[in-house]
Amino acid sequence: MRGYLVAIFLSAVFLYYVLHCILWGTNVYWMPPVEMKQRNRVLPCLSKPAFASLLRYHEFHPFLCASDFKKIASMYGSDKFDLPYGIKTSAEYFRVALSKLQSCDLFDEFDNVPCKRCVVVGNGGILKNKTLGEKIDSYDVIIRMNNGPVLGHEEEVGRKTTFRLFYPESVFSDPIHSEPNSTVILIAFKPLDLKWLWELLTDGKLNSRGFWKKPALNLIYKPDQIRILDPFIIRMAAYELLHFPKVFPPHQKPKHPTTGIIAITLAFHICHEVHVAGFKYNFSDIRSPLHYYGNATMSLMSQNAYHNVTAEQLFLKDIIEKNYVINLTQE
Ligand SMILES: *[C@@H]1O[C@H](CO)[C@@H](O)[C@H](O)[C@H]1NC(C)=O
Ligand SMILES: *[C@@H]1O[C@H](CO)[C@@H](O)[C@H](O)[C@H]1NC(C)=O
Ligand SMILES: *[C@@H]1O[C@H](CO)[C@@H](O)[C@H](O)[C@H]1NC(C)=O
Ligand SMILES: *[C@@H]1O[C@H](CO)[C@@H](O)[C@H](O)[C@H]1NC(C)=O
Ligand SMILES: *[C@@H]1O[C@H](CO)[C@@H](O)[C@H](O)[C@H]1NC(C)=O
Ligand SMILES: *[C@@H]1O[C@H](CO)[C@@H](O)[C@H](O)[C@H]1NC(C)=O
Repeated sequence: MRGYLVAIFLSAVFLYYVLHCILWGTNVYWMPPVEMKQRNRVLPCLSKPAFASLLRYHEFHPFLCASDFKKIASMYGSDKFDLPYGIKTSAEYFRVALSKLQSCDLFDEFDNVPCKRCVVVGNGGILKNKTLGEKIDSYDVIIRMNNGPVLGHEEEVGRKTTFRLFYPESVFSDPIHSEPNSTVILIAFKPLDLKWLWELLTDGKLNSRGFWKKPALNLIYKPDQIRILDPFIIRMAAYELLHFPKVFPPHQKPKHPTTGIIAITLAFHICHEVHVAGFKYNFSDIRSPLHYYGNATMSLMSQNAYHNVTAEQLFLKDIIEKNYVINLTQE
């Protein structure tokens, strides 16, 4: 009799679990277990950063982990937004791309600095002919973005890179730029970006249709160097820091934060002190250099329909004035 009751109870629990899974659209009961989870603990920093008031969750883990990204998404509301700011209709793309990565750790296992001084190096032409390289290399964490080169610009921007944020259209494909000790972070704007990562990591054939510019056709980074940025970070940048509207009028292209502002938002979540360099557009001269490398000029930025540069400049001015961040290019 007792055994009967136990059996009924257990099958009820099992049924409840299966129904729960069906109801919530998860299929954990038949999925193979996923191994990739956060391994290295991040050392806690006990003092409060100057910019703490800007954040809802300081020390939010910024990279997606295969083992729990859906849980984290529902905890922080990323399951209610579509890409680029959430996983709502693209969870499967995230899952497949994450299945090819080997780590979602923030810092490496030898890391022993609890409160980190970080520098976010923008790609602005203002860094041209400056000699900030040595200064930049002296930070605990150096965040760079897109294809802003170190090679050939060591005096201007330094030689070390802790993190580099990228998307398929902006990532290096020439191995001379490989940075074997860096972590590179994919910012996914569309499902295709996740498919692109998955295809390059499975040696699949890459179809470059659907990108706004030809994407990289090969990866110069090893799978254990690659992370996927939690869309929560970009959502914070867009809605909480830049105060973008949630809906744009139909005749307007939605505006998204530039990689530079996303990088600063990331820094706010992992650093104790944030300095910036190379964040400056000179609109008074459209022929002035846009970047510290290459030949692009400001005219390229003034045509940009995807970003709201005005909002970003106001934001930068504000956080510098309030001493939340320090403008290195000023010193
Ligand atoms: C940087 O230096 C080079 C060579 O001295 C010069 O031709 C160029 O105009 C300078 N660029 C800027 C932005 O000052
Ligand atoms: C990467 O790190 C190792 C170990 O710290 C070091 O020996 C090596 O020189 C570094 N390589 C580069 C390219 O920075
Ligand atoms: C912008 O460029 C113009 C023309 O080169 C220059 O005169 C001006 O000083 C620059 N402004 C700033 C703020 O750098
Ligand atoms: C920039 O322009 C110079 C001179 O026109 C050219 O030699 C150089 O290859 C160009 N660099 C790039 C990155 O396009
Ligand atoms: C850009 O941001 C500024 C400041 O927040 C705002 O006044 C302006 O309407 C925005 N422009 C566009 C095109 O969204
Ligand atoms: C940083 O300082 C430089 C030099 O004063 C200035 O031109 C630039 O606009 C500042 N950057 C920002 C983002 O305000």
